[in-house]
Amino acid sequence: MKTIFSGIQPSGSLTLGNYLGALRHFPPLQDEYKCYFCIVDQHAITVPQDRSELRKNIKSLAALYIAAGIDPNKSTLFIQSEVAAHAQGGWIMQCISYIGELERMTQFKDKSHGKEGVSAALFTYPPLMAADILLYNTDIVPVGDDQKQHLELTRDLADRFNKKYNDIFTIPEPRISEVGARIMSLQEPTKKMSKSDENKKATIFILDDHKQIEKKIKSAVTDSEGIVSFDKENKPGVSNLLTIMSVLSGKPIKQLEKEFDGKGYGEFKASVANVVIDALMPIQEKYYQLIDSAKLDDYLDQGAEKATIVANKMLRKIENAMGLGRKR
Ligand code: TYM
Repeated sequence: MKTIFSGIQPSGSLTLGNYLGALRHFPPLQDEYKCYFCIVDQHAITVPQDRSELRKNIKSLAALYIAAGIDPNKSTLFIQSEVAAHAQGGWIMQCISYIGELERMTQFKDKSHGKEGVSAALFTYPPLMAADILLYNTDIVPVGDDQKQHLELTRDLADRFNKKYNDIFTIPEPRISEVGARIMSLQEPTKKMSKSDENKKATIFILDDHKQIEKKIKSAVTDSEGIVSFDKENKPGVSNLLTIMSVLSGKPIKQLEKEFDGKGYGEFKASVANVVIDALMPIQEKYYQLIDSAKLDDYLDQGAEKATIVANKMLRKIENAMGLGRKR
């Protein structure tokens, strides 16, 4: 059985981008693959976090994974910092990474650009992500488009290690969907929708209520043409809304263009909002049932225990291959 690994940062509320680019794809994989889904809290602290907010976001993300369809009895759902092998493996991956290749990471460049007090960990974050993936002999990593470069680095590091020390790592493949892998900001549709956007109108959060969703989509930036058609270059706002609607309704973009032929943006936006609300409300309902239940802690304990056994085995192999410690 092949192995899947993916992770999401608990660095704020989950967005519609996270859902459409990543989370939505996870539940159907559970019957076919051995799945590991991680709450990557050590990645989240590469930028400053408020302690109580972080704790809240970790639990919230765990509940959202389950509410979106992850079955913790089928998949291993766990918190990264509760499995020590991740940080240990991350260090080793740093030791085989070159500064030059980390400097080329566009996410690092974007997140550090013009900022003071950028942490060293923001720079060495991709080797930690590589360790996350490689510790589980992962075959496939389902992610959104923005993680493609990190996946390429992971593959390079695995290959480098295999050639230099011992052939122990599976080379993972990214799985990036064709539609919805890059959901754009509602206010600046040439920019990615992001958890940390200062303009809250730019981002739909999975836990937004239906009024907020309606309002945000109604005020989404479009153009003055008044024609519902897909053209990423010239009509990025309308194209983004068409993408969102297509992914959630399962209707091809061409069909939606026909459906809204001759109709204005007002009617189109109202329909997009309805589709988003219909998709998110059942998830929210399950989320609110789960968030304060003791079961959630049991699932996370169980996940950390299962992940630790697998990850420690691989860590031993890595350490033996490199000559660290004493042979075990
Ligand atoms: P993170 O937490 O930023 O995002 C989680 C997932 O959501 C996807 N995503 C999007 N997809 C479509 N449109 C968007 N606007 C959008 N924004 C985010 C991301 O591509 C991602 O799949 N480094 C990772 C977390 C990570 C990880 C891993 C992922 C750590 N270790 C190992 C896979 C495997 C990150 O910061 O994702």
